Amino acid sequence: MAALHAKVRPFKTLDLYPKRSGHPRTCARFRCSAAAPPRPRSYSVTILPGDGIGPEVVSVAKDILSVAGSHEGIEFRFREMPVGGAAIDSVGVPLPEETLAAAKESDAVLLGAIGGYKWDGNEKHLKPETGLLQLRAGLGVFANLRPAAVLPQLVDSSTLKKEVAEGVDIMVVRELTGGIYFGKPRGFGTNDKGDNTGFNTEVYSASEIDRIARVAFEVARKRRGKLCSVDKANVLEASMLWRKRVTMLASEFSDVQLSHMYVDNAAMQLIRDPKQFDTIVTNNIFGDILSDEASMLTGSIGMLPSASVSESGPGLFEPIHGSAPDIAGQDKANPLATVLSAAMLLRYGLGEENAAKRIETAVMETLNRGFRTGDIISPRMTLVGCKRMGEEVLKSVDSQKALTASL
Ligand SMILES: NC(=O)c1ccc[n+]([C@@H]2O[C@H](COP(=O)([O-])OP(=O)(O)OC[C@H]3O[C@@H](n4cnc5c(N)ncnc54)[C@H](O)[C@@H]3O)[C@@H](O)[C@H]2O)c1
Repeated sequence: MAALHAKVRPFKTLDLYPKRSGHPRTCARFRCSAAAPPRPRSYSVTILPGDGIGPEVVSVAKDILSVAGSHEGIEFRFREMPVGGAAIDSVGVPLPEETLAAAKESDAVLLGAIGGYKWDGNEKHLKPETGLLQLRAGLGVFANLRPAAVLPQLVDSSTLKKEVAEGVDIMVVRELTGGIYFGKPRGFGTNDKGDNTGFNTEVYSASEIDRIARVAFEVARKRRGKLCSVDKANVLEASMLWRKRVTMLASEFSDVQLSHMYVDNAAMQLIRDPKQFDTIVTNNIFGDILSDEASMLTGSIGMLPSASVSESGPGLFEPIHGSAPDIAGQDKANPLATVLSAAMLLRYGLGEENAAKRIETAVMETLNRGFRTGDIISPRMTLVGCKRMGEEVLKSVDSQKALTASL
């Protein structure tokens, strides 16, 4: 995580910061006057707890976001709205218009998770997952950033050998609103032999490829300066265009070393030698699969955050895990993926780097003090539940504040 917050800073050239209320945009990055105390900055954040463990982990993350923000002179206005199964039960649809409107009006959106057995048999338009896809499309969040870093404290949780897993620090940048998940035509039909068929379309425009590639180059530039573009250009036309456009853009980012890899090889290399990767950029479906694979290198689904950003509107910040119905309501969930998503919200959504670091440092300290939820427990560590883990992170946030005050 240290590597994560040390190397990834807010983008400079993309307008990824939403308009914030009550404070000029430049202040977050140049707030260094020793004479005047910083003016409070105020942001609206839409909170979407969702289903299963979503409400439990979001409640913890919201408190930590609030306190870490207050230590940096930031005020939050939170508005909680239903999404997913909770919205189906209360309003009859997985993404109510009011929820999307609130999300669009806010500075950033923090989501827990959606889904559960109860709604598994619903028709597609009434599934919680449909609400999530509609939310991403409605916000136009086309770039999904998923860090997968093996923390030294949790290296033994990886299924890989220690020497392979140690030091892994990858950022997968996945295209989120195009490709085969949205391409048309799609549907069911019958072929000329009378066999039923199902079909989808993998399609990308040059501008869609350019905008995701630019985000990836910017991310790589702030990390170790290495970008690997993953495609299937030996077979798919959409991938051939992808490779051509990414290669063309590389001339604008001469400080970034670009390489290309076919997706089948990338899936293999991620297991064989994951340390060769710094930043990976890929399309929607390959990114879905590879980012899950990369995250499993860390061995801890409960630890992994994500950010989904657009060109100018609010970003969507959420843990990568689902609603974990098997442990919901039992205070067993690991809230740290959502807490770290709140840190990404501060960094990528609001440009509040210092507050983001406060949260990430507090998470590291809490792990250093030996606290673990069930999913990351190891011998000699202290097993805690979701709430207690949150309290311990809050203690660490407060101890940083006390330390700063005494200097
Ligand atoms: N973005 C999302 O909201 C999202 C993502 C994936 C799945 N889902 C939905 O979630 C539901 C369950 O899906 P699934 O079981 O395949 O995936 P899942 O991520 O919910 O759970 C997989 C396993 O990991 C564990 N787990 C997940 N998060 C954890 C945490 N924070 N702490 C401790 N353990 C954790 C669960 O207990 C479970 O054993 C489904 O309805 C699915 O559609 C939602």
